[in-house]
Amino acid sequence: MKTPLAGARFLLAVLAGLVLAGCEKPPPDVVQRGYRGLAMQTVYNPRTVAAQAELNAVPAAIPPVPDGGPLAKDVFKNVQVLGDLGVAEFTRTMQAITAWVAPEQGCAYCHKTGAELSDDGLYTKVVARRMLQMTRQVNAQWKPHVAETGVTCYTCHRGHPVPAQVWFTDPGPKAAGGSTADNAGQNHPAAVSALTSLPLDPLTPFLLQDHPIRVTGTTALPEGNRKSIKQAEWTFGLMTHISKSLGVNCTYCHNSRSFAEWEQSPPTRVTAWQGIRMVRELNNTFMEPLTSTFPASRRGPQGDVPKINCATCHNGAFKPLYGAAMAKDHPAALGTMLKTVAATPVAAAPAAAMPMAALPVRILFAVGKDAIEDEGRRAIEQAVAALAADPAAKVSLSGYADKTGNPDKNLELAKMRAFAVRDALKAAGVAEDRIELKKPEFVIGGASADSRRVDINLAS
Ligand code: HEC
Ligand code: HEC
Ligand code: HEC
Ligand code: HEC
Repeated sequence: MKTPLAGARFLLAVLAGLVLAGCEKPPPDVVQRGYRGLAMQTVYNPRTVAAQAELNAVPAAIPPVPDGGPLAKDVFKNVQVLGDLGVAEFTRTMQAITAWVAPEQGCAYCHKTGAELSDDGLYTKVVARRMLQMTRQVNAQWKPHVAETGVTCYTCHRGHPVPAQVWFTDPGPKAAGGSTADNAGQNHPAAVSALTSLPLDPLTPFLLQDHPIRVTGTTALPEGNRKSIKQAEWTFGLMTHISKSLGVNCTYCHNSRSFAEWEQSPPTRVTAWQGIRMVRELNNTFMEPLTSTFPASRRGPQGDVPKINCATCHNGAFKPLYGAAMAKDHPAALGTMLKTVAATPVAAAPAAAMPMAALPVRILFAVGKDAIEDEGRRAIEQAVAALAADPAAKVSLSGYADKTGNPDKNLELAKMRAFAVRDALKAAGVAEDRIELKKPEFVIGGASADSRRVDINLAS
């Protein structure tokens, strides 16, 4: 006879079955990413990975064409970005972007049927031109993030005119009680923060604006630091988005015994830090100015432009397309070869040109060191951009050391610093004959940080 207990057991078993059906079936794969004993592991489900691998298959490359021949800018009427490609390479690029962005719609997606190919009548063409510049900017200027892997239109578009992962600013539902009931975007589970009750739009403050991504105070007492619980929750909202976009755990970038400590974080966190800055730039410099170019039907509820986040490129993989380097098949068109992009003025969205006023720049060094630090790299990038904007310009480098300590060693140090900067310029694609090395010098009378430097000057 059925006892009430057996009935209850049966019910429990059914319930447990239902609850577990929502979970992923074991066994997961665990990959150790930190030192032993730190639990710095990434957990993968082999089935999800297999499905992901299929989604991230790379389309066949279009065979290369011979170099040379007349340039696109001399043959066509309205080529503003790809002018320096030979006509054959230009045509190959058009084929490639069609395959990456609009394989079903074809050339007609950007070129109005019946109009000349030079016509800019369709907004899609205007957007595509800006996208070409954006892709070049990523490949040339954001190597600290995208490395030699780089990106193509396919990285985001995957064969569709609209990438699967875009986002809009989301003010959330209006609270009934007006401002008194402001819930800081909470308790409205949103997919972006993995359906938790974390703020529903953690992207606007961090990937469009540059609010500090901080939780932990650095002083014992709250001296003007507003690391409030609210700010912490926004930060965690963003971190959830990041983890989900890359398909990884928090420990992919943090040692969870101290989330804030950079010394204890793996190098992936540095790449992610660069990624955050890159995404901000892409949204502010490339997407936002296109707001009025996009038709209303493409814009968000607030009328804002569709924007980029980590998922737009990564689509759930720790490296987009699991690190397939598609951009290298189109070095000239997509800027993997160009070391910097002279911003071409475009009617719809003028980009600020980098004037020669960017020079001189100064790179400072630590005591006794010739290694270039982050600040210095930025200064060098500025110089590289200025040189790209004016192909006739040359620079001269002067290395300095302060006068404390052994003078011979110091002169040697000043020289090594100048060499380091020269090498960085060369690595960024500046031809050696555009760089002139001056004799190393002392800065008389000082041991100030300013004396340990290299100046990049415009050579006359
Ligand atoms: C995703 C949008 C897009 C698609 C699809 C596309 N194009 Fe283009 N096309 C452009 C853009 C943008 C330019 C301008 C490039 C520039 O300014 O450097 C352009 C320019 C051209 C030009 C130069 C016209 C002139 O006189 O200025 C030709 C030729 C051309 N495309 C051919 C094609 C062909 C053929 C196809 C199909 C295989 C195609 N395009 C598909 C975006 C597209
Ligand atoms: C970093 C990601 C990213 C890359 C790389 C990228 N795009 Fe886009 N693209 C976007 C986003 C985001 C949108 C806005 C989509 C929307 O309308 O919601 C967009 C929109 C477009 C549109 C307008 C589509 C429409 O129907 O409204 C065109 C055309 C386009 N991109 C072409 C290109 C081309 C060509 C390349 C390569 C040269 C490229 N994109 C590279 C992110 C990217
Ligand atoms: C792909 C790398 C990456 C992943 C994955 C990641 N984070 Fe972060 N996290 C960062 C970076 C980069 C920063 C610093 C951002 C900045 O300063 O601009 C950061 C900052 C933080 C901070 C603030 C530390 C401080 O200084 O106060 C916390 C807390 C944090 N993350 C928690 C998490 C949690 C929890 C997860 C998992 C849900 C996670 N992170 C996943 C890269 C990552
Ligand atoms: C424009 C496309 C693009 C966007 C947007 C983007 N990434 Fe990436 N990311 C890449 C590429 C390409 C690589 C591969 C670089 C390489 O091969 O080393 C990469 C690599 C990484 C890595 C290193 C992975 C590893 O195992 O070495 C991390 C971490 C990362 N991205 C985090 C982020 C975060 C966080 C964001 C959002 C703030 C982001 N990315 C946005 C293109 C992108």
